Order: sequence, then structure tokens, then C-alpha cells
Amino acid sequence: MRKVEWHEEIDSTMRRAGEMASKGCESGTIVGAEVQTAGQGRHGRTWESQQGGLYFTMILRPKVEMRDLPVVTLALGLGVADALQMHAGVSVDLRWPNDVLVGEKKLAGILTVWQEGAILAGIGVNVGQAVFPEELREVATSLALETQKEHDKQFLLRAIAASVESQVRILESSGVNAVLRLFANASSYVSGKRVTVELPAGVVIGTTAGLTPEGFLVVRREDGTEMTVTAGGVRPANNH
Ligand code: BTN
Repeated sequence: MRKVEWHEEIDSTMRRAGEMASKGCESGTIVGAEVQTAGQGRHGRTWESQQGGLYFTMILRPKVEMRDLPVVTLALGLGVADALQMHAGVSVDLRWPNDVLVGEKKLAGILTVWQEGAILAGIGVNVGQAVFPEELREVATSLALETQKEHDKQFLLRAIAASVESQVRILESSGVNAVLRLFANASSYVSGKRVTVELPAGVVIGTTAGLTPEGFLVVRREDGTEMTVTAGGVRPANNH
């Protein structure tokens, strides 16, 4: 039986998961909350975590090397995307490395942290939100908005957890290339997509041209030269 610790309110399930991992909790343990007061997003951003969403962190102890972390990140996205397609009836896309989208709007976000050999997989899914704060309205969506139905968060939690574990098992047993292939099939962002990439040095425009063996995204600039994107910040070029 999987251990699930559930909170009505917490600062961030990432912080609590870090404590649980350092005390040696089992792989597959989950900490979740109805509301987070200091939800963490990628790149130091905050993650809007009001009532209605599904917020949890799963502690995983996969048998992989630290260098495979970028591919674990892709596997987590595949797990969340598969579960939402199968159990919530939505058609989703994956924006590298692992944003789960409906069209161009974000349905779920994943934060991956490596802590002393454990992976803290922080997953936020917009489930029941009927409206988003003004600044998110153009870029976020929820299962309620997409399907006009109510969804059982505890059922989704278990479906996503099982699906994520299954993708991690594929990585452990079949290796990095199997996950790269699955990701390339599931994501419209891997090749032939015109994107902008936000880098500290400025914005680059180009067309995606596959994944590196490490799981990074290759982008061909307009002058034909290629660059490897190792962190997020990829957006469709038509949004700018
Ligand atoms: C992203 O920026 O796309 C990643 C968002 C990750 C949000 C989840 S919600 C549960 C877990 N706890 C957090 O504080 N963040 C992650």
C-alpha cells in the first residue's frame, strides 16, 4: 500500500516531501494538499495553488544515474499526460520538457528535484478551477473547463501516480532511448515546431529539431545553426 499524507493546507508539498525523503520514506510515497500557500513552480516561479487543483509531490527512488535526470523529467510528463488522457478524457500535448497542455494552454506542471538519490516529483494539475486569476487566463486551463465535468481528485491522484511509476519502470528496464521515443511521439514540440526560447542572453527564434541523447531539445536558428536547450522557456513562436 502506498503511503499518502494529505493536508488541507500546506506551504508547499515540495518542502514536506524533502523532509520525508531525508527520513528515508519508501519510493512511491505521496504528500498532497488541497491548498498550498507557497506553491513552487519551475525557474523559481510561484505555482498558483488555490482550492480546486490537485497538488502533490511523489517521492521516487528510481534505479537511474543522476545524469539521467533530464530523461526522468520527460518520463514524468509522459506519465501525467497518459493518465489524464486515459482517465479524464482530454487530448493533451507535451511542451518540452514536461508541461502538459491542452492546445497551447497549460493543464498541468511538473517540478523535478533531485535530493540525495531520491526524486521529488512535484505535480500540479488544474482540475476543478472554473476561473483563473486575470494573469493566467490566457495561458492556463483546467479539466473542468475542458470537459465541462467534475473530476474526482483522489481517483486522478492514484491514476497519475501509477502511470508515472510505469513510465519510470520503462526508463529503468528499456533505457533512455525508449523514453525519448515515447516523448517524441507524444509531443508536438520535439521537431518541426517554430518556437521562441527565452535565455538569459535574450530570446532566440528557431525550429525544433529533435532531442539529444541526454533528453535536451535541439533548436535550429533561422541562420541554420543549432543550439541545445537544457532548461525550459520554450514557447510557440506565434505567441510573440
Ligand atoms: C511548473 O512550473 O510548471 C511546475 C509546477 C509544479 C507545481 C507542483 S504543485 C505540487 C508541488 N508542490 C509545489 O510547491 N510545486 C509542485
